Amino acid sequence: MTERLQKYLARAGIASRRASEEYIRAGRVMVNGETMTELGVKVEPEDVVYFDGRPVEPEPLEYHLLNKPAGVISSASDPQGRRTVTTMAPGRARLFPVGRLDQDTTGLIILTNDGALAHRLMHPRFQVDKVYLADVEGIVGERELERLRRGVRLEDGMTAPAGARVTGKRGGNSIVELTIHQGRKRQVRRMLEAVGHPVLRLHRKRYAMLTDDELPVGATRPLTRKEVIGLQKLVTAGRQ
Ligand code: URA
Repeated sequence: MTERLQKYLARAGIASRRASEEYIRAGRVMVNGETMTELGVKVEPEDVVYFDGRPVEPEPLEYHLLNKPAGVISSASDPQGRRTVTTMAPGRARLFPVGRLDQDTTGLIILTNDGALAHRLMHPRFQVDKVYLADVEGIVGERELERLRRGVRLEDGMTAPAGARVTGKRGGNSIVELTIHQGRKRQVRRMLEAVGHPVLRLHRKRYAMLTDDELPVGATRPLTRKEVIGLQKLVTAGRQ
């Protein structure tokens, strides 16, 4: 993979991309024995990079699928010291979550250090499907399902067309399966609230083609090579 020198340095954990640019300008970085002070330089995997006289090894790209338990925060770190999703993956790479789930929401979230793929998966242009199961208050009827499907007016605008069906009933409550490709803040909870059925419990059971089959809540597994390629294809084909 060809990549810019500052990105390579950032991925190796030397510093942020911005700070790495400063290091390059300051003449602290060598590629194949030559000091580089220009920013446009690209490096190949076989290039030998030194920073302050020491060889640099970039982290290999990692991809994990986590079935997030309730109570865990979907960010790389938390100033309040709460448990975060990135502490739940094995390995030493500095991973970050692709998108967010609310603290109380359970379900699938990808953890990776592949910023380019993460960025694309979250980009609205690629319309990556996410499937949620929501336990909601009350009995949901066809009218409410139709509103969810067509789009619901929220304070930040209408939601895009969605898939919606009732998959079960529990006491006087319903279980709704909602398929959306947007990722607005607390979107599922707000959509269901807007049609009069507040969410009691929320779980994401599918992200793109990845499902929670055989991955219990709290568990992680590495994505297979085939799955990573599948995700890459999904966001290069450019569904619009
Ligand atoms: N929608 C929500 O309301 N919450 C989540 O965690 C994910 C989607």
